[in-house]
Amino acid sequence: MKICVLPGDGIGPEIMAEAVRVLKALGLGFEMEEALLGGCAVDATGSPYPEATQKLALAADAVLLGAVGGPKWDNNPREQRPERGLLGIRKHLGLFANLRPAILYPELANASTLKPEVVAGLDILIVRELTGDIYFGQPRGIEVRDGERCGFNTMIYSESEIRRILRVAFDAARKRSRKVCSVDKMNVLECTQLWRDVAIETGREYPDVELSHMLVDNAAMQLVKNPKQFDVMVTGNMFGDILSDEASMLTGSIGMLPSASLDANNKGLYEPSHGSAPDIAGKGVANPLATILSVAMMLRYTFANEPAAVRIENAVKKVLAQGLRTGDIFEPGMNKVGTRAMGDAVLAAL
Ligand code: IPM
Ligand code: MG
Repeated sequence: MKICVLPGDGIGPEIMAEAVRVLKALGLGFEMEEALLGGCAVDATGSPYPEATQKLALAADAVLLGAVGGPKWDNNPREQRPERGLLGIRKHLGLFANLRPAILYPELANASTLKPEVVAGLDILIVRELTGDIYFGQPRGIEVRDGERCGFNTMIYSESEIRRILRVAFDAARKRSRKVCSVDKMNVLECTQLWRDVAIETGREYPDVELSHMLVDNAAMQLVKNPKQFDVMVTGNMFGDILSDEASMLTGSIGMLPSASLDANNKGLYEPSHGSAPDIAGKGVANPLATILSVAMMLRYTFANEPAAVRIENAVKKVLAQGLRTGDIFEPGMNKVGTRAMGDAVLAAL
């Protein structure tokens, strides 16, 4: 059982250190090896996803990632931006299924900007397709046409790509409330008309799961109006990028949310939903809980070790109940701690 560890940039190394401590404390005998991804990889090798990292990631059973990116690399040519490393590893490993849970912990109910009654008990799973769509479609570029610059990208999905991500959503729904909402823009875009047609066809394989459809603009509105109507939401790469950020903020604490990106064999890349937070990097104040909860997702999905996953999740709930808070989720009256102390508390709770 081999895990490729990619701390990345910004707060990545700090939060990863705590996640690795938690993983080691479980004593499950994983082999771990570190490599470079993102801006740190550009600095060291010129590439955001260097060959050594590609080899290690391919050979590992799972990849644990901190975060990539930062202002330092924002003006680099596109090929040498940290985000390219992230898109590169997703595509290279065929990680087409991105699972982004948005769960509101009762202890953090005040962290949301929405009224408590709107978000209390929120538990949504966004299933985002991750290796297709306008992110990867060809042709793409910026070129001069009729004397002016034009930028263009291609939104494209094959029916097999749509079917396999819909199946991931239906399978996930079977372990939850058996409700899937498929999000598209079929009133305007042919690509997503096909999405809806294939969603309906695939839904026939799952008569026990209730399938509904929603246009993406309405879905964005419904997520803030009445988010608890949703259980599993499934959508394409770009809509999923946007809706998952929106959903994460319903919980008010993006520092709490893990994510999994899976291939067809449950090999996965696990990372917190938040970014590299360069403004607080190196200060020891970042919230390590999303990365620690990503370890739990890894144990659940790649290593099929549900008891170990639940053990970590319970330890996190326990430290929240104890009143420990990093700055991002702090409220008056609580006990403000840094990254290391939060890691210590999770270890103690384990
Ligand atoms: C995400 C991020 C990435 C994406 C960026 C950093 C390329 O926003 O994981 O949601 O757009 O997929
Ligand atoms: Mg995003």
